[in-house]
Amino acid sequence: MAPKPLNIGMIGYGFMGRAHTNGYKRVNDFFDLPYRPVLKAVCARDEAKAKAFAEQWGYESIETDWKKLLARKDIDAVDICTPNNLHKEISIAAAQAGKMILCEKPLAMNTAEGEEMCAAVEKAGVANIVWYNYRRIPAVTYAKQIIDSGKLGRIFHYRANFLQDWTINADLPQGGAALWRLDAAAAGSGVTGDLLAHCIDTALWLNGSISDVTAMTETFIKERKHQLTGKSEKVTIDDACAFLCHFANGSLGLFESTRYARGHKALYTFEVNGENGSLKWDLHDLHRLQWFDYRVEGPLRGWASIHVTDGDHPYMGKWWVPGLAIGYEHSFVHQVKDFLEGLGSGKPAGPTFRDALETQKVCDAVLDSAKSGSWKKV
Ligand SMILES: NC(=O)c1ccc[n+]([C@@H]2O[C@H](COP(=O)([O-])OP(=O)(O)OC[C@H]3O[C@@H](n4cnc5c(N)ncnc54)[C@H](O)[C@@H]3O)[C@@H](O)[C@H]2O)c1
Repeated sequence: MAPKPLNIGMIGYGFMGRAHTNGYKRVNDFFDLPYRPVLKAVCARDEAKAKAFAEQWGYESIETDWKKLLARKDIDAVDICTPNNLHKEISIAAAQAGKMILCEKPLAMNTAEGEEMCAAVEKAGVANIVWYNYRRIPAVTYAKQIIDSGKLGRIFHYRANFLQDWTINADLPQGGAALWRLDAAAAGSGVTGDLLAHCIDTALWLNGSISDVTAMTETFIKERKHQLTGKSEKVTIDDACAFLCHFANGSLGLFESTRYARGHKALYTFEVNGENGSLKWDLHDLHRLQWFDYRVEGPLRGWASIHVTDGDHPYMGKWWVPGLAIGYEHSFVHQVKDFLEGLGSGKPAGPTFRDALETQKVCDAVLDSAKSGSWKKV
């Protein structure tokens, strides 16, 4: 049967606007799905820029006010690709307008906002998902399958890092276009909500819930010029964050993120150590999964590097031929695929708003702990 059209209204056309649009455009070429996304409208405040984006990427129309987009009868699903301080207001209004919602991460500025958003989508009964796309990198999905099969045995340790270096320059301003991540009023927090949120989402998915945390944060550059006011203002985001935690399964967690690790651009890594084996993954080599199996006997025992490109690896059967890698952008194609399949089957793909609220709770506990200097329950 021909897939049914699903009219997308996307708000924000920056980095994520492009990544998502690429996902909508590619997904039906490679996967057989019950729905086909239609690029109905893109919304941004600057009319000329919105028009240029719509022309380049193939959107049928534009809006310059997201409230007008939500009022349109021809929009089925709203995709929120704006800075974090707009996620709540747009999501709640979209739910009230009966639209499905695909919202960027982190779900909200904090847990209280996230609770309101969950209540709104659940009351309206609209499909919802949050773009924690790293779950959909085939090697990461495969790690989930290995862990769920029980091959690692009891898990002792979970370790993750997300390292960047783009804010070391003290002359870099904060706030406004492209630099909203440095302004807590737009971002909610610094590396905790921006980068560690990804690590936490993956960890909760792979290793279950986190019970308590103890954290430290640092803001290395204390004042920066604000792009919007032109004045030097206090920096209120966390530039770096490290935390320890207990998982409910008894394992210990160790997480670190910073934008001050000279030489690292986007180094997301995780490692899981169990009684029978270990798994390691690295975003810079994203189609590989490092695997150590203690049950291999004799001198052949050692770390193996699995090239996750075979037809029986997650998602890979629909791409090229075994041995040929795919990349970062495909995680968004896969997220759209899973969302559309969930609509068809009635079994919603995660992380839903409710799932993503768990990550928000861990982020809040981490920031609370860093402030108070004590362990915090999640
Ligand atoms: N899943 C991921 O890996 C990932 C990666 C990057 C960013 N993000 C998240 O995606 C969101 C957007 O980040 P980005 O990097 O794309 O930012 P960006 O700065 O590249 O784009 C933000 C867009 O929002 C638009 N915008 C701002 N205010 C608006 C308003 N009132 N009405 C309409 N449009 C408005 C801007 O014009 C811009 O097009 C954030 O929540 C961020 O945390 C997720």
